[in-house]
Amino acid sequence: MLEARAAVQRLRSYHPPLAGRQGLRLDFNENTVGCSPRVLARMRMLDAEALARYPDREPVEREVARFLGLDAAQLLLTNGVDEAIHLLCSTYLEAGDEAIIVVPTFAMYSLFAHAEGAQIVEVRGGADFVFPTEELLAKISERTRLIAVANPNNPTGAAVSEEILFQIAEAAPHAALLVDEAYFEFYGETLLSRPARLSNIFVARTFSKAYGLAGLRIGVIVGEVQQMAMVRRVASPYNVNAIALAVLPEALRDTAYVEHYAAEVRRNRDVLQQELSALGLHYWPSRGNFVLVRVGPAHEAFVRSLRDRGILVRDRNSDPGCEGAVRLTVGSDAHTQTLIAALRSVVEDLGLRREVQA
Ligand SMILES: Cc1ncc(COP(=O)(O)O)c(C=O)c1O
Repeated sequence: MLEARAAVQRLRSYHPPLAGRQGLRLDFNENTVGCSPRVLARMRMLDAEALARYPDREPVEREVARFLGLDAAQLLLTNGVDEAIHLLCSTYLEAGDEAIIVVPTFAMYSLFAHAEGAQIVEVRGGADFVFPTEELLAKISERTRLIAVANPNNPTGAAVSEEILFQIAEAAPHAALLVDEAYFEFYGETLLSRPARLSNIFVARTFSKAYGLAGLRIGVIVGEVQQMAMVRRVASPYNVNAIALAVLPEALRDTAYVEHYAAEVRRNRDVLQQELSALGLHYWPSRGNFVLVRVGPAHEAFVRSLRDRGILVRDRNSDPGCEGAVRLTVGSDAHTQTLIAALRSVVEDLGLRREVQA
Protein backbone atom coordinates (compact mmCIF):
# COMPACT_ATOMS: atom_id res chain seq x y z
CA MET A 1 0.00 0.00 0.00
CA LEU A 2 1.23 3.48 -0.80
CA GLU A 3 2.21 5.37 2.33
CA ALA A 4 3.22 8.97 2.80
CA ARG A 5 6.58 9.58 4.50
CA ALA A 6 6.46 9.06 8.26
CA ALA A 7 7.14 12.77 8.83
CA VAL A 8 4.10 13.65 6.73
CA GLN A 9 1.90 11.11 8.48
CA ARG A 10 2.85 12.71 11.78
CA LEU A 11 1.88 16.20 10.56
CA ARG A 12 -1.28 17.70 11.93
CA SER A 13 -3.22 19.34 9.10
CA TYR A 14 -3.44 23.08 9.37
CA HIS A 15 -6.80 24.64 8.50
CA PRO A 16 -6.97 28.39 9.05
CA PRO A 17 -10.63 29.41 9.45
CA LEU A 18 -11.17 30.69 5.91
CA ALA A 19 -14.77 29.56 5.44
CA GLY A 20 -17.60 32.08 5.53
CA ARG A 21 -15.47 35.16 6.00
CA GLN A 22 -18.27 37.67 5.51
CA GLY A 23 -18.10 41.11 7.07
CA LEU A 24 -15.16 43.18 8.25
CA ARG A 25 -12.23 40.76 8.13
CA LEU A 26 -9.85 41.60 10.97
CA ASP A 27 -8.76 37.99 11.40
CA PHE A 28 -5.85 37.44 8.97
CA ASN A 29 -3.82 40.67 9.19
CA GLU A 30 -4.74 41.56 5.63
CA ASN A 31 -4.94 45.07 4.21
CA THR A 32 -8.54 46.03 5.00
CA VAL A 33 -9.06 48.27 1.97
CA GLY A 34 -7.23 46.31 -0.72
CA CYS A 35 -4.41 47.02 -3.13
CA SER A 36 -3.55 50.17 -5.05
CA PRO A 37 -6.02 51.04 -7.84
CA ARG A 38 -3.02 51.25 -10.16
CA VAL A 39 -2.36 47.55 -9.51
CA LEU A 40 -5.96 46.68 -10.38
CA ALA A 41 -5.77 48.78 -13.56
CA ARG A 42 -2.60 46.93 -14.60
CA MET A 43 -4.28 43.60 -13.91
CA ARG A 44 -7.23 44.52 -16.12
CA MET A 45 -4.84 45.08 -19.02
CA LEU A 46 -3.81 41.42 -19.07
CA ASP A 47 -4.87 39.53 -22.15
CA ALA A 48 -5.15 35.87 -23.12
CA GLU A 49 -1.62 35.77 -24.42
CA ALA A 50 -0.22 36.92 -21.07
CA LEU A 51 -1.92 33.99 -19.40
CA ALA A 52 -1.02 31.47 -22.11
CA ARG A 53 2.70 31.92 -21.49
CA TYR A 54 4.76 30.40 -18.71
CA PRO A 55 5.68 33.25 -16.39
CA ASP A 56 9.18 34.75 -16.55
CA ARG A 57 10.26 35.68 -13.06
CA GLU A 58 13.66 37.17 -13.78
CA PRO A 59 12.81 40.61 -15.24
CA VAL A 60 10.55 41.26 -12.26
CA GLU A 61 13.25 40.01 -9.89
CA ARG A 62 15.55 42.65 -11.33
CA GLU A 63 12.92 45.33 -10.58
CA VAL A 64 12.41 44.07 -7.05
CA ALA A 65 16.17 44.01 -6.55
CA ARG A 66 16.40 47.64 -7.67
CA PHE A 67 13.55 48.55 -5.34
CA LEU A 68 15.32 46.90 -2.40
CA GLY A 69 18.76 48.24 -3.36
CA LEU A 70 20.09 44.73 -3.96
CA ASP A 71 21.46 42.56 -6.72
CA ALA A 72 18.99 40.15 -8.37
CA ALA A 73 21.28 37.23 -7.47
CA GLN A 74 20.53 37.96 -3.81
CA LEU A 75 16.82 37.26 -4.07
CA LEU A 76 14.09 34.96 -5.24
CA LEU A 77 10.44 35.81 -5.76
CA THR A 78 8.22 33.24 -4.12
CA ASN A 79 4.61 32.16 -3.90
CA GLY A 80 4.22 34.16 -0.72
CA VAL A 81 6.50 33.94 2.28
CA ASP A 82 4.90 30.55 2.89
CA GLU A 83 6.77 29.17 -0.10
CA ALA A 84 9.98 30.88 1.00
CA ILE A 85 9.75 29.04 4.33
CA HIS A 86 9.07 25.77 2.51
CA LEU A 87 12.07 26.28 0.21
CA LEU A 88 14.41 27.05 3.12
CA CYS A 89 13.27 23.90 4.90
CA SER A 90 13.82 21.82 1.74
CA THR A 91 17.24 23.36 1.18
CA TYR A 92 18.69 23.03 4.67
CA LEU A 93 16.84 20.45 6.75
CA GLU A 94 17.60 16.74 6.79
CA ALA A 95 15.46 14.35 8.83
CA GLY A 96 16.58 14.55 12.46
CA ASP A 97 18.00 18.08 12.17
CA GLU A 98 16.79 20.69 14.61
CA ALA A 99 14.79 23.82 13.79
CA ILE A 100 14.47 26.45 16.52
CA ILE A 101 11.40 28.64 16.75
CA VAL A 102 10.32 31.15 19.38
CA VAL A 103 6.73 30.49 20.40
CA PRO A 104 4.07 31.66 20.02
CA THR A 105 4.72 32.42 16.38
CA PHE A 106 3.53 31.95 12.81
CA ALA A 107 2.44 28.33 12.26
CA MET A 108 4.17 27.60 8.96
CA TYR A 109 7.74 27.38 10.32
CA SER A 110 7.05 24.28 12.35
CA LEU A 111 4.73 22.80 9.73
CA PHE A 112 7.31 22.87 6.91
CA ALA A 113 10.21 21.91 9.20
CA HIS A 114 8.22 18.94 10.53
CA ALA A 115 7.43 17.88 6.97
CA GLU A 116 11.16 17.47 6.36
CA GLY A 117 11.40 15.22 9.41
CA ALA A 118 13.19 17.85 11.51
CA GLN A 119 12.79 18.17 15.27
CA ILE A 120 11.25 21.43 16.38
CA VAL A 121 12.98 23.05 19.32
CA GLU A 122 10.56 25.54 20.83
CA VAL A 123 11.81 28.42 22.93
CA ARG A 124 9.07 30.16 24.89
CA GLY A 125 8.94 33.93 24.66
CA GLY A 126 9.59 35.63 28.00
CA ALA A 127 7.13 37.55 30.18
CA ASP A 128 5.07 39.78 27.88
CA PHE A 129 6.70 37.95 24.97
CA VAL A 130 10.09 39.57 25.40
CA PHE A 131 12.50 37.89 22.99
CA PRO A 132 14.21 35.01 24.86
CA THR A 133 17.75 35.67 23.59
CA GLU A 134 19.72 33.73 26.21
CA GLU A 135 17.34 30.77 26.12
CA LEU A 136 17.53 30.63 22.33
CA LEU A 137 21.33 30.85 22.29
CA ALA A 138 21.44 27.99 24.81
CA LYS A 139 19.36 25.78 22.50
CA ILE A 140 21.72 26.05 19.53
CA SER A 141 23.42 22.70 18.94
CA GLU A 142 25.44 21.18 16.11
CA ARG A 143 22.15 19.73 14.83
CA THR A 144 20.52 23.17 14.55
CA ARG A 145 20.06 23.88 10.84
CA LEU A 146 17.24 26.42 10.85
CA ILE A 147 16.18 29.21 13.20
CA ALA A 148 13.01 31.08 12.28
CA VAL A 149 12.14 34.45 13.77
CA ALA A 150 9.21 36.61 12.72
CA ASN A 151 10.15 40.25 13.27
CA PRO A 152 7.78 41.68 14.34
CA ASN A 153 6.27 38.45 15.56
CA ASN A 154 2.80 37.19 14.80
CA PRO A 155 0.61 36.98 16.91
CA THR A 156 2.36 38.95 19.67
CA GLY A 157 3.47 42.05 17.75
CA ALA A 158 6.82 41.98 19.62
CA ALA A 159 10.02 42.92 17.80
CA VAL A 160 13.65 41.96 18.31
CA SER A 161 16.66 44.17 17.66
CA GLU A 162 19.03 43.66 14.76
CA GLU A 163 21.96 43.28 17.19
CA ILE A 164 20.29 40.23 18.72
CA LEU A 165 19.53 38.76 15.30
CA PHE A 166 23.16 39.18 14.21
CA GLN A 167 24.27 37.66 17.51
CA ILE A 168 22.11 34.58 16.85
CA ALA A 169 23.37 34.26 13.28
CA GLU A 170 26.96 34.41 14.49
CA ALA A 171 26.32 31.85 17.21
CA ALA A 172 24.91 29.40 14.64
CA PRO A 173 26.99 29.77 11.45
CA HIS A 174 25.95 26.24 10.38
CA ALA A 175 22.25 27.17 10.51
CA ALA A 176 20.01 29.25 8.27
CA LEU A 177 18.47 32.12 10.24
CA LEU A 178 15.18 33.16 8.67
CA VAL A 179 14.12 36.66 9.65
CA ASP A 180 10.54 36.97 8.48
CA GLU A 181 9.78 40.65 7.89
CA ALA A 182 6.19 40.10 6.71
CA TYR A 183 5.10 43.16 8.72
CA PHE A 184 8.07 45.38 7.84
CA GLU A 185 5.99 48.29 6.53
CA PHE A 186 4.30 48.69 9.92
CA TYR A 187 7.58 48.41 11.83
CA GLY A 188 10.21 50.20 9.76
CA GLU A 189 13.37 48.35 10.76
CA THR A 190 14.98 45.83 8.46
CA LEU A 191 18.07 43.69 8.17
CA LEU A 192 18.09 44.56 4.47
CA SER A 193 19.77 47.82 5.37
CA ARG A 194 22.87 45.65 6.02
CA PRO A 195 22.90 43.19 3.11
CA ALA A 196 26.64 42.54 3.45
CA ARG A 197 26.05 40.97 6.85
CA LEU A 198 23.51 38.40 5.74
CA SER A 199 25.90 35.36 5.27
CA ASN A 200 23.65 32.71 6.90
CA ILE A 201 20.67 35.05 7.32
CA PHE A 202 17.65 35.06 5.00
CA VAL A 203 15.15 37.92 5.06
CA ALA A 204 11.61 37.30 3.84
CA ARG A 205 9.14 39.98 2.78
CA THR A 206 5.56 39.67 1.61
CA PHE A 207 3.19 41.67 -0.57
CA SER A 208 0.24 40.10 1.28
CA LYS A 209 0.01 42.62 4.09
CA ALA A 210 0.66 46.34 3.49
CA TYR A 211 0.38 45.91 -0.30
CA GLY A 212 -3.01 44.20 -0.06
CA LEU A 213 -2.07 41.34 -2.40
CA ALA A 214 -2.55 38.25 -0.22
CA GLY A 215 -4.72 36.65 -2.89
CA LEU A 216 -1.98 36.93 -5.51
CA ARG A 217 0.53 34.96 -3.40
CA ILE A 218 3.75 36.87 -3.84
CA GLY A 219 6.70 37.36 -1.57
CA VAL A 220 10.45 37.57 -1.77
CA ILE A 221 13.36 35.97 0.02
CA VAL A 222 16.77 37.60 0.22
CA GLY A 223 20.04 35.97 1.17
CA GLU A 224 23.71 35.63 0.41
CA VAL A 225 24.32 34.93 -3.31
CA GLN A 226 25.71 31.40 -3.02
CA GLN A 227 23.04 30.36 -0.56
CA MET A 228 20.34 31.78 -2.82
CA ALA A 229 21.70 29.70 -5.70
CA MET A 230 21.02 26.63 -3.55
CA VAL A 231 17.53 27.79 -2.57
CA ARG A 232 16.71 28.50 -6.22
CA ARG A 233 17.56 24.88 -7.09
CA VAL A 234 14.59 23.56 -5.16
CA ALA A 235 12.12 26.15 -6.51
CA SER A 236 9.97 25.63 -9.58
CA PRO A 237 10.97 28.04 -12.37
CA TYR A 238 7.26 28.95 -12.51
CA ASN A 239 6.58 29.26 -8.80
CA VAL A 240 5.16 32.78 -9.15
CA ASN A 241 2.13 33.24 -11.38
CA ALA A 242 1.93 35.56 -14.40
CA ILE A 243 -0.66 37.89 -12.87
CA ALA A 244 1.45 38.53 -9.79
CA LEU A 245 4.53 39.14 -11.95
CA ALA A 246 2.62 41.52 -14.24
CA VAL A 247 1.31 43.72 -11.45
CA LEU A 248 4.15 43.67 -8.94
CA PRO A 249 6.22 46.38 -10.67
CA GLU A 250 3.18 48.68 -10.57
CA ALA A 251 2.68 47.90 -6.86
CA LEU A 252 6.32 48.84 -6.23
CA ARG A 253 6.03 52.06 -8.24
CA ASP A 254 2.96 53.23 -6.31
CA THR A 255 5.00 53.84 -3.15
CA ALA A 256 2.61 56.57 -2.03
CA TYR A 257 -0.24 54.08 -1.72
CA VAL A 258 1.61 51.69 0.57
CA GLU A 259 3.24 54.44 2.62
CA HIS A 260 -0.12 56.11 3.14
CA TYR A 261 -1.78 52.86 4.22
CA ALA A 262 1.07 51.84 6.53
CA ALA A 263 1.01 55.28 8.19
CA GLU A 264 -2.76 55.03 8.65
CA VAL A 265 -2.39 51.60 10.26
CA ARG A 266 0.39 52.78 12.59
CA ARG A 267 -1.82 55.66 13.72
CA ASN A 268 -4.81 53.39 14.20
CA ARG A 269 -2.70 50.91 16.13
CA ASP A 270 -2.11 53.65 18.71
CA VAL A 271 -5.78 54.61 18.67
CA LEU A 272 -6.85 50.99 19.19
CA GLN A 273 -4.29 50.38 21.94
CA GLN A 274 -5.47 53.48 23.79
CA GLU A 275 -9.04 52.29 23.49
CA LEU A 276 -8.15 48.85 24.84
CA SER A 277 -6.53 50.51 27.85
CA ALA A 278 -9.60 52.64 28.39
CA LEU A 279 -11.75 49.49 28.27
CA GLY A 280 -9.55 47.89 30.92
CA LEU A 281 -8.26 45.17 28.60
CA HIS A 282 -4.63 44.11 28.72
CA TYR A 283 -2.89 44.16 25.33
CA TRP A 284 0.66 43.67 24.14
CA PRO A 285 2.08 46.75 22.36
CA SER A 286 2.45 45.79 18.73
CA ARG A 287 4.78 46.68 15.85
CA GLY A 288 2.59 44.94 13.26
CA ASN A 289 -0.85 45.63 11.76
CA PHE A 290 -2.57 43.77 14.59
CA VAL A 291 -2.89 43.84 18.36
CA LEU A 292 -3.09 40.84 20.68
CA VAL A 293 -5.47 41.47 23.54
CA ARG A 294 -6.14 39.40 26.65
CA VAL A 295 -9.86 38.82 26.98
CA GLY A 296 -9.71 35.98 29.52
CA PRO A 297 -12.11 33.03 29.80
CA ALA A 298 -14.71 34.86 27.68
CA HIS A 299 -12.50 34.75 24.57
CA GLU A 300 -14.91 32.55 22.60
CA ALA A 301 -17.94 34.67 23.48
CA PHE A 302 -15.92 37.78 22.58
CA VAL A 303 -15.07 36.44 19.10
CA ARG A 304 -18.69 35.30 18.62
CA SER A 305 -20.13 38.63 19.75
CA LEU A 306 -17.89 40.53 17.37
CA ARG A 307 -18.89 38.17 14.57
CA ASP A 308 -22.55 38.84 15.39
CA ARG A 309 -21.71 42.50 14.84
CA GLY A 310 -20.13 41.71 11.46
CA ILE A 311 -16.46 41.71 12.53
CA LEU A 312 -14.13 38.73 12.27
CA VAL A 313 -11.17 38.51 14.66
CA ARG A 314 -8.86 35.61 15.50
CA ASP A 315 -8.96 33.60 18.71
CA ARG A 316 -5.34 32.82 19.68
CA ASN A 317 -6.24 31.08 22.94
CA SER A 318 -4.53 27.83 21.96
CA ASP A 319 -1.18 29.44 21.10
CA PRO A 320 1.49 28.95 23.79
CA GLY A 321 1.29 31.74 26.38
CA CYS A 322 -1.84 33.20 24.73
CA GLU A 323 -4.54 31.79 27.00
CA GLY A 324 -7.63 33.94 26.64
CA ALA A 325 -6.03 36.11 23.94
CA VAL A 326 -7.59 37.37 20.73
CA ARG A 327 -5.79 39.04 17.80
CA LEU A 328 -7.34 42.10 16.16
CA THR A 329 -6.12 43.28 12.76
CA VAL A 330 -5.64 47.05 12.49
CA GLY A 331 -6.89 48.63 9.27
CA SER A 332 -8.16 51.88 7.86
CA ASP A 333 -9.57 54.78 9.92
CA ALA A 334 -13.15 53.79 9.18
CA HIS A 335 -12.57 50.11 9.95
CA THR A 336 -10.82 50.94 13.20
CA GLN A 337 -13.71 53.15 14.28
CA THR A 338 -16.15 50.35 13.43
CA LEU A 339 -14.06 47.93 15.49
CA ILE A 340 -13.87 50.30 18.45
CA ALA A 341 -17.62 50.89 18.50
CA ALA A 342 -18.20 47.12 18.45
CA LEU A 343 -15.57 46.51 21.14
CA ARG A 344 -17.26 48.98 23.46
CA SER A 345 -20.58 47.25 23.14
CA VAL A 346 -19.13 43.72 23.40
CA VAL A 347 -17.11 44.60 26.50
CA GLU A 348 -20.25 46.06 28.03
CA ASP A 349 -22.46 43.10 27.06
CA LEU A 350 -20.01 40.50 28.36
CA GLY A 351 -19.19 42.44 31.49
CA LEU A 352 -15.50 42.26 30.62
CA ARG A 353 -14.51 45.58 32.04
CA ARG A 354 -15.56 44.52 35.52
CA GLU A 355 -14.00 41.08 35.17
CA VAL A 356 -10.62 42.51 34.15
CA GLN A 357 -10.57 45.07 36.93
CA ALA A 358 -11.66 42.60 39.62
C1 LIG B 1 4.97 36.22 10.17
C2 LIG B 1 4.26 35.86 8.90
N1 LIG B 1 4.96 35.41 7.86
C3 LIG B 1 4.37 35.10 6.71
C4 LIG B 1 3.00 35.19 6.55
C5 LIG B 1 2.38 34.76 5.27
O1 LIG B 1 2.87 35.49 4.20
P1 LIG B 1 2.46 35.15 2.73
O2 LIG B 1 1.04 35.55 2.55
O3 LIG B 1 3.42 35.95 1.93
O4 LIG B 1 2.66 33.67 2.53
C6 LIG B 1 2.22 35.64 7.61
C7 LIG B 1 0.76 35.73 7.45
O5 LIG B 1 0.00 35.84 8.35
C8 LIG B 1 2.87 35.97 8.81
O6 LIG B 1 2.18 36.38 9.87
